[in-house]
Amino acid sequence: MKPAAATAAGETTAEAPPMSGRQRLLAAARREAVDTTPVWFMRQAGRSLPDYRALRERYDFLTVAKTPELAARATLMPVDRLGVDGAVLFADIMLPLEGMGVPFEIRPGVGPVIADPVRTEADVARLRVVDADEGTPYVLDALRLLKRELGERAALLGFSGAPFTLACYLIEGRSSREYPKTKTMLYGAPELWHRLMETLTEVVIRYLRGQIAAGADAVQLFDSWLGLLDRVTYETHVLPYTTRIFAALQGLAPTIHFSTGTVALIDAIAASGSDLVSVDWRLPLDEAWAHLGPTQGIQGNLDPTLLLAPFDVVAAASRDILDQAGGRPGHIFNLGHGILPETNPDTLRRVVDLVHGQDGAAR
Ligand code: CP3
Repeated sequence: MKPAAATAAGETTAEAPPMSGRQRLLAAARREAVDTTPVWFMRQAGRSLPDYRALRERYDFLTVAKTPELAARATLMPVDRLGVDGAVLFADIMLPLEGMGVPFEIRPGVGPVIADPVRTEADVARLRVVDADEGTPYVLDALRLLKRELGERAALLGFSGAPFTLACYLIEGRSSREYPKTKTMLYGAPELWHRLMETLTEVVIRYLRGQIAAGADAVQLFDSWLGLLDRVTYETHVLPYTTRIFAALQGLAPTIHFSTGTVALIDAIAASGSDLVSVDWRLPLDEAWAHLGPTQGIQGNLDPTLLLAPFDVVAAASRDILDQAGGRPGHIFNLGHGILPETNPDTLRRVVDLVHGQDGAAR
């Protein structure tokens, strides 16, 4: 359902009722008219919110992520506090790995750590391919719970790590600057690499289909470390798998492809066939948009470190992005990467109001 009088972003007749956050985000994802630009923030459900910090004083990260009531509570915090149009499930890209037979921990300040990384043929052969209801039942339960609690306030966003970024963690065992062991497998043992990517692709497809069946309105594929690759390597060793994932989800729910530091790959990324491409601040939004396909929308692209600047700087940069989008259908306002923990939630709230056109300023 969309208000009949909505024409383009920011232009509605006086009688048109405002869209709900969920309607607004999903209309933009389908490149339909919206009453105002939808907005959410990557890593909105986390350490920048005092309520979240209080929750984490009582429970560790994985306990929150694996307990549907707690994950749902953390997911709703930014919806209540910031007024965003998207509610991204509180989870982590690492969760499906446990069901594949790879235990991990999340170390504060370090990130994911895998004690026994996946490096040999035998390691890859041991990986299990399981459905989401077997591997991560708590993720599906959290989505079902949220579906009931959210109503129309915000679109429920599921997500997964992309095969390449998951492979980086699986092979390296932890975050790294250059991911040398990952590249050693990719370049030095391409058959093994492709077998690993096949396995991860199947798991990700089942994981995201499970999330959509449990109530996710749209899903985002996080390929955080793609910027490590040159274009040809991306096209031969990664793109076929992301393309397969988006094809497998076609018609089920809108898809968003996230990466950062990937200006050199943008044409190839667009070719993977997601409904929206999430871009960072390194290219102006309108330039990035020119690389996308005719049916693709765009998500982005404020530099998250900019949120630490005085608000007039934040406001000018946010308006710039809206000007570059120029009211074209298919823009979801977001950051180019996740919120930094030291970000003031009041700044986030003010950005949401600005994007929604409720800051009183003429645009
Ligand atoms: O966006 C959201 O608010 C939803 C929740 C979410 C988390 N992780 C929660 C989290 C999402 C979407 C992710 C995705 C994720 N996890 C990515 C892709 C996005 C990106 O930033 O590129 C990656 C690479 C990870 C792996 C990971 N998990 C890292 C690098 C860290 C940070 C380690 C640290 O402490 O600096 C984590 C842990 C993590 N995942 C936290 C949160 C809120 C911090 C744990 C805490 O202290 O509460």
